[in-house]
Amino acid sequence: MRFLTIDKVVPGSRLAKPLYGTQGIVLLRENVELTEAILARLKAYGYNGLYIEDEISEGIVINDLVDEGLRLRTAARLESIVNRNGNIAEMKPLISEIVDSIMENGDVVIHMNRLWGHHEYTYLHCVNVGILAVSIGIKLNLSRDNLIYLGTAGLLHDIGKKFVPVEILDKPGRLSDEEYEVVQKHPEIGFEILAESMELNSVTKVGVLQHHERFDGSGYPGGLKGDEITIFGRILAVADTYDAMTSDRAYRNAFSPSEAVEYLMGDGNQLYDFHVVDVFVRCVAVYPVGACVELSDGTHGIVVQNYSDCVLRPVVRNTETKEIIDLKNDSRYLNLCITKICVN
Ligand SMILES: [Fe+2]
Repeated sequence: MRFLTIDKVVPGSRLAKPLYGTQGIVLLRENVELTEAILARLKAYGYNGLYIEDEISEGIVINDLVDEGLRLRTAARLESIVNRNGNIAEMKPLISEIVDSIMENGDVVIHMNRLWGHHEYTYLHCVNVGILAVSIGIKLNLSRDNLIYLGTAGLLHDIGKKFVPVEILDKPGRLSDEEYEVVQKHPEIGFEILAESMELNSVTKVGVLQHHERFDGSGYPGGLKGDEITIFGRILAVADTYDAMTSDRAYRNAFSPSEAVEYLMGDGNQLYDFHVVDVFVRCVAVYPVGACVELSDGTHGIVVQNYSDCVLRPVVRNTETKEIIDLKNDSRYLNLCITKICVN
């Protein structure tokens, strides 16, 4: 199977993975033939990409780190709890399921293709931050209990935004100084909302408070530096930045995974704990399995397999000749590299 943006899917293609609605309920089962009418409906629904099964991508298997249905069900439950001021402890079974699913994955390589476009909503971003944070936590050898506290912090990190006016959150242009001040209050508001919850561990609450602190002291609300920020705060900062950068926003299109990783390692170097970034970039698939890529000799291929210790040099299958190109291990390809992800 491979990932295609919805505009590139030809009627008659077969769906390779089930598609879910925002509540995590199956909309279309795998193997369904995609007609023109179905594609138009999916586009209207907000889907911007699909996994399809075709000859070029035959035999390529894409295993989700966390099942798409579980991801969406978690987002829907979180939204419902936040809206009715429900008990956050209700999230625990879903968070445990996410943590166990990532732990079972063993050699964690994160690839989250963006199935949704502009409809990708705040709660899905929160779930993604939880998934990314837990993936980093596993690489840092945190215990299962701590991974659950960390995943919970990821899910709840932006809960304080509930009290930031939507007009400010969704403003397409630059925020005024006053508006930015309002936005900057959300970590403290979130901390206050959670402070009363007896079920939540204090490390979770402090993680929420600190997710906008920056390693060089330039963050908010405390302007804390280095080790003054808890490990949860430092992990959440990286996970949140990465997910925000790779999502579409009202005022810009998403950056690719490789651009986001480049930022974290380059310009973002001062702002984040380098050790956390180092661990993260070694487990995020900048060229996800199933993605179509262009190589430096002008040929195209589909990514077949990622290496967690060498994410820039995966195994690629040439689209025309079907030749397997192992960029990491095959010395014949030492001079070859991936130049970009193609959208077709
Ligand atoms: Fe935030």
